[in-house]
This record gives sequence, C-alpha cells and structure tokens, in this order.
Amino acid sequence: MQTQHLFSSADIPTVAAIEHAAAIIRRGGLVAFPTETVYGLGANGLDALAVRKIFAAKQRPSTDPLILHVAHWSQFAKVADLRGVETIVATLAAAFMPGALTLVLPKLACVPADVTANGPSVAVRVPAHPVALALIEASGTPIAAPSANLFSRPSPTTAQLVLDDLDGRIDAVLDAGSTRIGVESTILNLCQLPTLLRPGGVALEAIEAVIGEVLLPNEAVLSADHAQPAPGMLLKHYSPRARMLLLADDANVESIAQQFRHERLGLLLPSASMARVQSLAAVRFDLGHTAETMAAGLFKGMRELDQAGCTHILTHQLPPNGLGRAINDRLYRAAEGRVITGPAS
Ligand code: TXA
Ligand code: MG
Repeated sequence: MQTQHLFSSADIPTVAAIEHAAAIIRRGGLVAFPTETVYGLGANGLDALAVRKIFAAKQRPSTDPLILHVAHWSQFAKVADLRGVETIVATLAAAFMPGALTLVLPKLACVPADVTANGPSVAVRVPAHPVALALIEASGTPIAAPSANLFSRPSPTTAQLVLDDLDGRIDAVLDAGSTRIGVESTILNLCQLPTLLRPGGVALEAIEAVIGEVLLPNEAVLSADHAQPAPGMLLKHYSPRARMLLLADDANVESIAQQFRHERLGLLLPSASMARVQSLAAVRFDLGHTAETMAAGLFKGMRELDQAGCTHILTHQLPPNGLGRAINDRLYRAAEGRVITGPAS
C-alpha cells in the first residue's frame, strides 16, 4: 500500500487535505493525524473491520483497547453510559476539554468489542488540535486512535516519525508539524472512584484541584478488588532500541557517563545536566530547561539517538509532580523498570 502524505496548516486546517483524509476514514481506511499530545492512527471507531486494521498495521495485541476521539464532550453520550457520572464528567469537561484528558466510562452497545478489547468500558477524549477536530467533524464519526507507532515503540510527535514506523502500512498521514505536548493524554477511570490509569498531558494536581482526590492504581487495587491498571500498560513500552540508563536523579550523571564512555553513548538530558558532561564524547539530545520542553522532546530524542546508532541512552528522572509524573512514567517503561539509584559502582 502506498501511504499518502497530506499536508495541513496546524492552526487553520487545510480543507482539501481534511476532506481527503475524512473520505479515507469514512470508507474504512487508516489515517494518521496530529493531536496536541502525539500523532494518532485513526479509523472509524464504530466500524469493527476498520478498527481491526489499526491492530494489524501497528502489530498491536488485540487485548490493548483504543481511545475514541470525538469533537465535543457532549458526544460522549453516544458511546458511553453517563448515568451517575454526569456531574463529574461535566466538571472535568469544563476544566480540561478539549485537552489531554481521557475518561474511561461504561460503554454502550454500539461500540465494537474490538475498540474496547472485549471489555465493558470505553476510553473517550476530545483532542485540542484544530486538525484533529476538523478531521473528526468531517468524518462524521468517533475516531478510534492509538498512538501512530509500531507496538512498543516511542509515540511519534511528527509525521516523519509516523512514516518511519508505518510507511506502506496505512492509507495516509495528515502532516501538520510537531505536536505541542509530546506525551500522551492522562487517563482517568470513572467506572469506579476516580483512578489515574496513566499520567499524561494534564497534571494530576490540576485534576485533583477540580474533583478532589484521585486514586493511584495500587491504592485502587487496595480499595476495590476489581480495579486494575489500564490494560496494555505494559512495562516494556515506549522503548528505544538502545539500552536506557535511567538515573533516579541527576546526582550521578557524570560518574555513570564516565563509566559508559567506551560505549556509543547517547545523552538525553535537560540543559542543566547536559552542561555537566560537556567534555565527554557522546551523542547529545538536549531536552531544554522545563518539564514542557522535556515532554515535547522526549520521544523524538529516543528515536534520534537510536538512529545515531547509540547502544546506551543516559537520562534521569524529574521531581514527580506536574508533567514530571508523565515523563518519569515513560522513562521508567522505556528502561523496562530499571532505575539506577546508588552511586556508580
Ligand atoms: O494522547 C493520547 O492519548 C494518544 C492520542 C493519539 O490521542 N493516544 C494514545 O493511545 O496514547 P494509545 O492506544 O497509545 O494508549 C491508550 C491506552 C491503552 O494502552 C490503554 O492502556 C488505555 O488507553 N485504555 C484504552 N481504553 C481503555 C479502557 N476501556 N479501559 C482502560 N484503559 C483503556
Ligand atoms: Mg501508544
């Protein structure tokens, strides 16, 4: 299959490109498109055959459910049962939608089992990107979309990174430049007491300021037998090919870097930490000065250092608040749960 590369302005969606992409969605095809978090791989979310193509293109296990993207939160009621949660959904929508917040709600029968991995709930969100919203509107259907990468690879933040994984496997990519946030949406389960399933683009603190305490997955497991972390949240995820050397904090950046200086070492560090290993021979990807710039560069950095042939990528965690929580989660998975805490041995 030849993958079409369609271009749109990011702010004012290009009508011809949107119409072309929407026609592909309506006839059951696959279109990768930008959201404010990462690029998604979209299909008609009410068409089981179209949804199955997503799993095939990504080589994603069918046990990992998909998010339905709609243009306004009032459309949640078309795919989810809002009885008993109307108030909390309206409160969250007023504060964060459109935006990087996904809600897990009891599903309605019209949602194909392929979308929800046969489960009783459905994940929904309203992306804050003019191109994504225009595509959903023009398609006239909820769009099911996981991140547009091959399974377990870092999520793509540009159309070129989508093509690096999926060229020839999907009908089209709608290119509107880099995504703003760079990590995926925050996922909140409302089928039980509000529970964080995945930290992401909207900070936990901001959500708690609006709805009060949110349970973390292990707390939820303690408080309700049936509670589970999000399916598909596997430990090995978002992985570059190189081995990640994830430090708990920036204390040992110099000593670990020294220890691995004979490897082809990639440095994926905030500017301040990078400055401390200036003299070392290594491939560098500077993540900038703030949690926002780090999130925006994180996945691109992993992929670029891979492409530069690095065998090891050195990075460190951030204080676990705000976007730092989502960044640490992605780094932890990329490192397959191995965190270097002590001084270099
Ligand atoms: O920012 C994002 O959320 C991006 C953009 C494209 O919208 N999408 C994204 O999708 O990250 P994906 O498929 O890579 O991650 C969605 C995750 C699944 O892996 C699963 O953990 C969780 O959402 N999920 C989906 N449906 C669920 C459900 N019914 N119950 C619990 N978790 C669910
Ligand atoms: Mg993904």
